Amino acid sequence: MNPEYVLKDPSQVNSPSLLFYKSLIARNIKAMVERVGSPARLRPHVKTHKTRQIVQMEREAGITKQKCATIAEAEMLAQCHVADIMLSYPMVGPNCERFANLVKKYPLSRISVIADSATGIQQLSNALGKAHVAVDVLLDINVGQNRTGVSVGPKARELYEMLDRLPGLRPGGFHVYDGHNHQHPLEERKAAVEKLLEPVLAMRTTFVKAGLPVLRMVVGGTPTFPVFATMEIAGGECSPGTCVLNDFNYGQWFQDLNEFTPAALLLTRVISRPAANRVTFDLGYKAVASDPPAGKRCTMLDMPDAVAVLHNEEHLVIETPDAERFQPGDVAYAMPAHVCPTCALHQFAYVVEDGKVVDQWEIASRNRMLTV
Ligand SMILES: Cc1ncc(COP(=O)(O)O)c(C=O)c1O
Repeated sequence: MNPEYVLKDPSQVNSPSLLFYKSLIARNIKAMVERVGSPARLRPHVKTHKTRQIVQMEREAGITKQKCATIAEAEMLAQCHVADIMLSYPMVGPNCERFANLVKKYPLSRISVIADSATGIQQLSNALGKAHVAVDVLLDINVGQNRTGVSVGPKARELYEMLDRLPGLRPGGFHVYDGHNHQHPLEERKAAVEKLLEPVLAMRTTFVKAGLPVLRMVVGGTPTFPVFATMEIAGGECSPGTCVLNDFNYGQWFQDLNEFTPAALLLTRVISRPAANRVTFDLGYKAVASDPPAGKRCTMLDMPDAVAVLHNEEHLVIETPDAERFQPGDVAYAMPAHVCPTCALHQFAYVVEDGKVVDQWEIASRNRMLTV
């Protein structure tokens, strides 16, 4: 195990708990800026950590733009005085009014949002018009993930014209997220990005010729960050999230991203030895994200032979030929397979520097609602 992970005295640290390693987070932020060349070309996604103090660390590295997925995250960013906040989630129903209230309440931040349907755009315009505010709306382009977005084509043009026409809205550019591009070899990710980008850029040209401005393009997550980071796209902004904390899965899958070090772990304790070859930890799926398949939700550090055989709400049972060496109360460290939903399971993280807990940081926007 990386010796930087080990606490000199874990006796006062509750378990299960989330640990943030501050100097490793700082190193990841620096690596992110170095990859892309300038903080002006970055819009990191806050959903990974949902934490004010990390937003502040990013600001100290020169990053002034942030992306988010929920109104609560957007509000936390506004409370942190982030200058430029983009909510990369389509607003529908009562969320349109909440969003309008957010924009009204935080006039010092430039807040934008994405949209991909005529209904959503109309509802957003109604709410923003009523509140007498106006925002940039980026058209969400479906480039193959088939999660949200409109495909390149006439429908995209109609929606973008709506953004130009309706009160409270301004055409704010394109949102191009390719969360399906998880090819392990970098060359394959590169080819996939080049293929998806060509029709998007061609559409951009036709829009601009027709007098529809497309000033910004917000592109990618962590896996295709190394590809987009090297591209000269006018108004291009890269929006990786995970690499700021990094995790086991991305570390395994994307060897070309190995300058990013996992900077968040879970501290857990043995609570029981129910059978000769079994060790039970207090690390259920209410403490580590369960979207990866059972058995692959975290890696127990320094236990190469451990096999996770049972995962309940508050229990993780492993089998190991080495079980004898564990006693109830023993401390262990686990690396989450998927760090973003893992953070959201914790009220706060213990902040570690030089093997000592130096602070506690609230995972402030894990809550669905702050004030708006
Ligand atoms: C819209 C959007 N942008 C950016 C990201 C960041 O991607 P990653 O977690 O790979 O860094 C995500 C991740 O879910 C996302 O949904």
